[in-house]
Amino acid sequence: MASSIFLILHLLLPLIFNNFENSYSFSLSVENFKEEVIVSSPKATFSAGFYPVGDNAYGFAIWYTTTPHTLVWMANRDRPVNGKRSMLSLLKTGNLVLTDAGQSIVWSTNTITSSKQVQLHFYDTGNLVLLDNSNAVVLWQSFDFPTDTLLPGQTLSKNTNLVSSRSQTNYSSGFYKLFFDSENVLRLMYQGPRVSSLYWPDPWLQSNDFGSGNGRLSYNDTRVAVLDHLGYMVSSDNFTFRTSDYGTVLQRRLTLDHDGNVRVYSKKDLEEKWSMSGQFKSQPCFIHGICGPNSICSYDPKSGRKCSCIKGYSWVDSEDWSQGCVPNFQLRYNNNTEKESRFLHLPGVDFYGYDYSIFRNRTYKECENLCLGLSQCKGFQHKFWQPDGVFICFPKTQLLNGHHTPGFTGSIFLRLPRNSPLSLSDSENPINYNNGFVCGGSNGGPKLLDRPYVEEEENDSVKLLLCFVTALGGIEVACIFLVWCFSFRNKNRKLHSGVDEPGYVLAAATVFRKFSYSELKKATKGFSEAIGRGGGGTVYKGVLSDSRVVAIKRLHQVANQGESEFLAEVSIIGRLNHMNLIDMLGYCAEGKYRLLVYEYMDNGSLAQNLSSSLNALDWSKRYNIALGTAKGLAYLHEECLEWILHCDIKPQNILLDSDYKPKVADFGLCKLLNRNSNLDNSSFSRIRGTRGYMAPEWVFNLPITSKVDVYSYGIVVLEMITGRSATAGTQITELEAESYHHERLVTWVREKRKKGSEVGSCWVDQIVDPALGSNYERNEMEILATVALECVEEDKNARPSMGQVAEKLQRYAHNS
Ligand SMILES: *[C@@H]1O[C@H](CO)[C@@H](O)[C@H](O)[C@H]1NC(C)=O
Ligand SMILES: *[C@@H]1O[C@H](CO)[C@@H](O)[C@H](O)[C@H]1NC(C)=O
Ligand SMILES: *[C@@H]1O[C@H](CO)[C@@H](O)[C@H](O)[C@H]1NC(C)=O
Ligand SMILES: *[C@@H]1O[C@H](CO)[C@@H](O)[C@H](O)[C@H]1NC(C)=O
Ligand SMILES: *[C@@H]1O[C@H](CO)[C@@H](O)[C@H](O)[C@H]1NC(C)=O
Ligand SMILES: *[C@@H]1O[C@H](CO)[C@@H](O)[C@H](O)[C@H]1NC(C)=O
Ligand SMILES: *[C@@H]1O[C@H](CO)[C@@H](O)[C@H](O)[C@H]1NC(C)=O
Ligand SMILES: *[C@@H]1O[C@H](CO)[C@@H](O)[C@H](O)[C@H]1NC(C)=O
Ligand SMILES: *[C@@H]1O[C@H](CO)[C@@H](O)[C@H](O)[C@H]1NC(C)=O
Repeated sequence: MASSIFLILHLLLPLIFNNFENSYSFSLSVENFKEEVIVSSPKATFSAGFYPVGDNAYGFAIWYTTTPHTLVWMANRDRPVNGKRSMLSLLKTGNLVLTDAGQSIVWSTNTITSSKQVQLHFYDTGNLVLLDNSNAVVLWQSFDFPTDTLLPGQTLSKNTNLVSSRSQTNYSSGFYKLFFDSENVLRLMYQGPRVSSLYWPDPWLQSNDFGSGNGRLSYNDTRVAVLDHLGYMVSSDNFTFRTSDYGTVLQRRLTLDHDGNVRVYSKKDLEEKWSMSGQFKSQPCFIHGICGPNSICSYDPKSGRKCSCIKGYSWVDSEDWSQGCVPNFQLRYNNNTEKESRFLHLPGVDFYGYDYSIFRNRTYKECENLCLGLSQCKGFQHKFWQPDGVFICFPKTQLLNGHHTPGFTGSIFLRLPRNSPLSLSDSENPINYNNGFVCGGSNGGPKLLDRPYVEEEENDSVKLLLCFVTALGGIEVACIFLVWCFSFRNKNRKLHSGVDEPGYVLAAATVFRKFSYSELKKATKGFSEAIGRGGGGTVYKGVLSDSRVVAIKRLHQVANQGESEFLAEVSIIGRLNHMNLIDMLGYCAEGKYRLLVYEYMDNGSLAQNLSSSLNALDWSKRYNIALGTAKGLAYLHEECLEWILHCDIKPQNILLDSDYKPKVADFGLCKLLNRNSNLDNSSFSRIRGTRGYMAPEWVFNLPITSKVDVYSYGIVVLEMITGRSATAGTQITELEAESYHHERLVTWVREKRKKGSEVGSCWVDQIVDPALGSNYERNEMEILATVALECVEEDKNARPSMGQVAEKLQRYAHNS
């Protein structure tokens, strides 16, 4: 082993520019490295040194030595250093630091040791290791901090992830990430500036404890993935991958490429060319975030991926495909929408996500009518769903993640104004291929690094003046260029879009996005106006810069939670879209801060309205609130693609809009606030929810299922119809006393029913909220009370599912 170790230290000392004997063990300066003094591993498979990443910009990197160089690691990918006086130094304290232009430290290993025998070793595996020789302890190694590449033998673990490069020529961090999520599943995620979404494994195939779906296991929390020299990759979630050339020892690398695909490349020792021997996504267009809104990705093996606007739309910025397209028309939504809209069939096209809701067993006509009835509906997907043997309807509120793939069986029906000039024959070729961009192409060439290099002897005044004048001139030119660009772009936009801008701005604004902490701090005036507490955080009212009023929830218990795990969860919640669920507009994850941004409901919560004795909610409102809440929960439990429990249903979490339509708030937090989660007992060991509404399972430590929400819902409905609170007058905090109180509401209602059926009178008249007087529908009342009592059965198997509740209430509402 020792012989395979190459001690850079010893070989390079003579070449090293070393001017601070006292504080450094050694240092490597950028000037030397530029002039071909490069460190190589024992068999010269790998080289390390300063690698040019732009004009006068360098990164300290490791690469495969054969030309063309293939980078496998970089210390400072997001903070390149100046080509002068920058150096990598091993301090006497055991810290390996990279200083920029002799000034600031841009990167370091943050190691510290008192040992005198710290050495830097560079192995033939491509691993750079800082070793404390006296106790043979690895202080730091580059394998623990991968950038976009895994080498054979290098493990991806709990604490590491791969992040793609920005582009082929720009090595700074890009938008794609390979990581283990909180359910121990290896995933790929697009995390763009505005939206983020998971796209591998296919998000509609959910892993679960029963092992169906995508074949991933979520119970193994080892969280390691590793590629071996023979071309076999195995991950602790039981994902395995074999390259096409599996079996021979080759030089290999697994790279998360800038286009969001993970590819394994291999080559023989002396060959120059890498060949791809496997990839994670075979359909390049199924990767999210490639093309902007309203545009479609298509793939041709010859020319690669391409983004194109859908018919009737044109580019926002003809230079930047990622901004997507805007419609050339405007749909006017009024009572006559039916006459105003028509639908264009785009076969083989799909837009993933952003469904208004998912409607099972709908005919084409029913689906079309659904879309017509929704002002946000931009079109819909209608497709046959084999497992259930029914047609499913997905009205789309956003046209994102679009792709056109020959052989894809679904279709999109695009909503257009009736009078639009597009003829139906256009549908044969739904995409304007001739205005397409080839994606991942030039995104601007290398840029001059603007980090200054300050000479220590600043006595050369002529030179200084010259620099100043040059800089001034540069700024001037840049300003003129910017102004020109801006006016040109504006002109251009008006020219080819021809529609009112606000339509688009509004649409873009409703997309789930990332906020900065400072933005939210400003919006809430420094978190001054708290409007609610609970559910793991405090809610503040805020006004965004576009003057939208929002509710911002600041989470408390998230200190030990990774950012990517948080994002993975939040992006799941953010994708949910149902009229009875509160809309999440975005999130913020910065340092220790975790915030969620929701739409603001100005008519308060059901709790406030139930307790206000002044103007009580009338009967039809109460019935519709019960129905809407059931629909929202049914969507959470059954219809959306991820399994989500609410765990904290109570009147405070049912918000009302100006029509008194209910919207369930605070869903998804259950999981978000609870790391370590496999959905077994242990993850729910702490009792959650609110006393008074908690199902007996929590108390008796039984397995938690969606039926806990059904129970809480039942209590809420009982409160709503009786006007009695499940929690009122219960200052006693002991659990027994507490459960006694809501037990009392339940048993009281049960008793009334029992007595009623004995006497033969109508029992509901005796339990109804006195505030309603006689203004209620007795039949509706009876059905609601009966359903509520079924929901609060102690035996969870006796409770109906939320879907059954919604169906029952819906049916009844129609009949009466
Ligand atoms: C978890 O994954 C690791 C690594 O793949 C494996 O060694 C271990 O046996 C797995 N544990 C279980 C319980 O499957
Ligand atoms: C893991 O995957 C292998 C095939 O790759 C399969 O044979 C095995 O049953 C899987 N294990 C589990 C627990 O599903
Ligand atoms: C639209 O419908 C509302 C009632 O639903 C009615 O008051 C209004 O006059 C209608 N407007 C038009 C333009 O038909
Ligand atoms: C679909 O709906 C129709 C009519 O509403 C009904 O007759 C049929 O049973 C439903 N099919 C399924 C599989 O639910
Ligand atoms: C790489 O991209 C980043 C982000 O757009 C940018 O800030 C940086 O200047 C680019 N670097 C080069 C060398 O072009
Ligand atoms: C800058 O100052 C040094 C001494 O501090 C001197 O040797 C050198 O000649 C000066 N350079 C110029 C260009 O004046
Ligand atoms: C519901 O509560 C909100 C906020 O307290 C209040 O503005 C509204 O008037 C209430 N409505 C009814 C019908 O009590
Ligand atoms: C609440 O709803 C009522 C009735 O629709 C409406 O008049 C009022 O403006 C809404 N907002 C508030 C803050 O009460
Ligand atoms: C969950 O807890 C119950 C009761 O404590 C126990 O019987 C059951 O085995 C547990 N299940 C798991 C998966 O640990």
